[in-house]
Amino acid sequence: MNRCLTVPDPSPYGETTPLHLPEPGTTPPACACRQPVEADLRVLRTATAGTRPNALRAPDDPRARARYRWLVGHHAAFAVWQHLRRTLETALDDPTALLEAARLYDVYSVLFLYTGSCSPERYAETIRPGMTARHPAFSGEWARDHEGLTALARKVRDQYPAALAAPLTDAVRLNQRVHMKVAARLVPGGASLLQDAGRQPGRHPTPAEHDLYDTHFAVHRLPVCDSSLTAQLVRRLAQIVCDIAEHGLTDHDPHPLTDDLLRSFAEALGSPRMQDVKTVSMTTGLYDYLLTQAEPPTPVQRRLMAETRDLGQVAEMQIPHEQSVLLTLLTKITGARLVVEVGTFTGASTLAFALGLPPGGQVITCDISDEWTGIARRAWQDAGVADSVRLLLGPAEETLRSLSEDPVIDLAFLDADKPGYETYWDLLVPRLRPGGLLLADNVLYGGDAADPHCTGNARAIRAFNARVRADERMESVLLPVADGLTVARKRDTP
Ligand SMILES: C[S@@+](CC[C@H](N)C(=O)[O-])C[C@H]1O[C@@H](n2cnc3c(N)ncnc32)[C@H](O)[C@@H]1O
Repeated sequence: MNRCLTVPDPSPYGETTPLHLPEPGTTPPACACRQPVEADLRVLRTATAGTRPNALRAPDDPRARARYRWLVGHHAAFAVWQHLRRTLETALDDPTALLEAARLYDVYSVLFLYTGSCSPERYAETIRPGMTARHPAFSGEWARDHEGLTALARKVRDQYPAALAAPLTDAVRLNQRVHMKVAARLVPGGASLLQDAGRQPGRHPTPAEHDLYDTHFAVHRLPVCDSSLTAQLVRRLAQIVCDIAEHGLTDHDPHPLTDDLLRSFAEALGSPRMQDVKTVSMTTGLYDYLLTQAEPPTPVQRRLMAETRDLGQVAEMQIPHEQSVLLTLLTKITGARLVVEVGTFTGASTLAFALGLPPGGQVITCDISDEWTGIARRAWQDAGVADSVRLLLGPAEETLRSLSEDPVIDLAFLDADKPGYETYWDLLVPRLRPGGLLLADNVLYGGDAADPHCTGNARAIRAFNARVRADERMESVLLPVADGLTVARKRDTP
């Protein structure tokens, strides 16, 4: 059986083809295929940009559109529930998955609004009879993919302190409110088909009821691979976004909806780069482990970290210990004898460089703060490296200009005011010896630097990063160490 399923290119009208889903709770077969989703994402982006979509259009007839929404919205929900189940299972042991679970609940809520967006009259006339004909007690409780999700979400929330689980809790509550509102609006009398048929809600569905539900919504259970599941979901999301862009969310009271949530979700799903990310997401547990795998701090480094922590919020400016170890190692590996640092603060990075110097080596470090560098001086003294450190107080630009213009610096480190980075780069690169290293800290700026619309310091960092990449005198890489560390080497032949 073919587990990889290619979704055909988007056609002018959104289709209502069967959905191929693996059994919920099963692991999709290992597969390296990449089912194409770019064409769907292009259509979806066009629709969210306010242009009338020229593909994947929903039916113009309101009755046909109500049926279309019921089917396409359910399909998307089934696939989202499969993602949600996996994410909740991950979140049982990994709190970093909590936010993703909350986002998936929000997507599910939006799909609820879409699926049940027709008027009560239209629902009574076009949707309900089809389900009654299928079975007089036809019920949403028979949906395989949703089974056990509510209990699983509760188990995850119980696992963590309320504050940590708050985004998920809020998303679950919002989802319950949306569910109740949509149900009350579509069936003003309130009774479901299940209740009308004299059956009690909450009873475990039989396999036949599961199958009946799948048949009604044209769902075929096949062990399709992850990429095939993604391609089918992106297609449904594109259909939904195109429909909303053209017809508004409700046919009885049309209004446009900018569907950022669905679009960004589809983009994230469809991004092939997501599958290429090899860097692990950091958790506190993983970070604690990582620290055990670095050279331990010396007693002076330990005291300096504690003393800096006592300064309060500003302590976050200090580089973390594993970065100190890296700086010491890079100093040793390159055999650096002259290091120039911009941004001393309480001296942790200066100390790290000094610990890597050969006898007779020197760190020149600059800062504008007498107070913070006072703490640094004491630490260098205690560590026995004070003789190899030259602290120059004053604006870094002036200090760097005052240094010899000969290319004698072996290693330089930028860790001061972010708008100054480009100037410091311009002043340091010519003073760097061929083969010398220039390191720059905070080059991800909490992740904001990746945003083309970022502002403030993140914008300055983004401009700096572009400058680094454009500079042919240097070869460089940006590493996800702490807040991002650029390692740039001056080419031997500029
Ligand atoms: C992020 S901290 C440096 C942290 C330090 N590398 C460490 O590992 O602890 C930035 C430092 O840059 C200094 N600074 C800010 N603007 C400056 C400027 N124009 N010239 C020199 N130093 C500056 C601040 O006083 C502050 O101490």
